[in-house]
Amino acid sequence: MSQKTTFITTPIYYISGEPHIGHVYTTIAADVLRRTALTRGSAFLLTGTDEHGQKVAAAAAAAGISPQAWTDALVPRWQALTTRFGVVCDDFIRTTEERHQRVVVAVFEALKARGEVYLGTYEGWYCTNDETFWLEAKLVDGRCPNPECRREVQWISEQNWFFSLAKYRDRLLAYYRANPHWLKPQSVWNEMYAAIESGLEDLCISRSNVSWGVPLPDSRVMYVWLDALLNYISAIGYGVDPSRFEAYWPADVQLIGKDIARFHAIIWPALLWALDLPLPRLVYAHGWLTVDGQKMSKSRGNVVNPFALADRFGADAVRYFLLREAAFGSDFSYSEQKILQRYVSDLGNDLGNLVHRSLAMLAKYRDSLVPAIAPSSLVLPAQHLGERVYEAFAGLQFREGLDAVWELVSGLNRLIDERKPWALAKAGEDAALDALLYEICEGLRWIALCLEPIMPEKARAMWQQLGLAGEPTGSWAELLQWGLLPPGTRTVPGAPLFPRLLDDVPVA
Ligand code: ME8
Ligand code: MG
Repeated sequence: MSQKTTFITTPIYYISGEPHIGHVYTTIAADVLRRTALTRGSAFLLTGTDEHGQKVAAAAAAAGISPQAWTDALVPRWQALTTRFGVVCDDFIRTTEERHQRVVVAVFEALKARGEVYLGTYEGWYCTNDETFWLEAKLVDGRCPNPECRREVQWISEQNWFFSLAKYRDRLLAYYRANPHWLKPQSVWNEMYAAIESGLEDLCISRSNVSWGVPLPDSRVMYVWLDALLNYISAIGYGVDPSRFEAYWPADVQLIGKDIARFHAIIWPALLWALDLPLPRLVYAHGWLTVDGQKMSKSRGNVVNPFALADRFGADAVRYFLLREAAFGSDFSYSEQKILQRYVSDLGNDLGNLVHRSLAMLAKYRDSLVPAIAPSSLVLPAQHLGERVYEAFAGLQFREGLDAVWELVSGLNRLIDERKPWALAKAGEDAALDALLYEICEGLRWIALCLEPIMPEKARAMWQQLGLAGEPTGSWAELLQWGLLPPGTRTVPGAPLFPRLLDDVPVA
């Protein structure tokens, strides 16, 4: 029986400016999930841009151009970001595309036909930065109650469409209780459960005096958050191509930051139910990249440019750092000092040096040819590493998965230090030297395979230096068997994987 394709989504990012590393953090994690899934079957990664709403319109107005011209100009920057970081997206959706807009309208009509929406008056406040409606009672000192925002809000009094969200309260609570793992991490589950328990209001889902949005059949436009959420189903052919839609939905993992948990863990499931669709298997709301304890955000002016970071350290080192430094899910205090430290110690000293000295010894003692050995002489079977790494990465425990790979990296470094190939060569212990060199190279093959989801470019470089054909991708069940490295393979020692940085200042 063929396995269902693993369907992974990221948020679609507001195109109100340039991306920062907070955005690429989510997208990289999604790419790792995709690459991990490919070791067992097929996968589909969807990302894109959220192009409507007042926030984007305001950015365009400030630049003196139309919103469409603005988004058209910026989209390539966001697409370049995925390429720069080695992210392979199977689809990149823009909410201004026709294929998306027609689904938004069709969904609106369907909700109307099902009696899920009604016309009413919205009298209350609106935060443009968060694109969120706030009732008077929720404001804090007359401002946006989101502690990360606290901006001035705008008074709105409009005739609008409302979605009957409130009636889903009990069903949501029951679903949360029956599916304690549908929303992770637990802290976000708890927070959302409490929010639902305290009561839900019906949701205003249109705007009357805003023009930059998906036009509804009346003179209104769709509320930007509903428009945006629907990307997850419009991209896979909802209402247009049922067999394609069925092949992907429900999503396996919907990755978001915890800032947008409410939209994905309260509004989104209710909306799916209103359409009679199943819920995603997992919504995962990771923590924030912070600088000096504050969320990295454009408005705070504390953002780090991902392109500049990739130019300095290499895209793969940044990917590694973002997923190794902190437990995924928790907040992550970013500093350049930390990335430099990881670059020098884990990547340069542990891994880069291991590859370099291993292949240098093979060149010196065996003319760069992988020796033939008796299988019984292997001492370092990493047997369950593949399963461990798969489970960790697929379960979004990237740091734990990398810890497991590093056990092998350290194990090989230790093996070299203890067994001393140079001493075996000097003593003429040929069989022992063959076995040792084989084992080290085989270990490197395993490391390349296991690291491919995290550092695809470096894994490929390792693969090539090992003289192996093809790519370090494919079924781990088949490839991760100890002893598959063909004897006689001619290795091709190359440039250091993680060269010293020119401005490599010593790290305390
Ligand atoms: O909210 N740390 O878009 P957005 C970690 N368009 N992740 C961060 C981050 C940080 N400091 N800053 C941003 C929107 N992110 C909507 C989404 S989805 C249907 C619509 C990441 O441009 C994180 O994934 O504000 C967060 O949820 C997302 O960018 C918000 O991007
Ligand atoms: Mg935001």
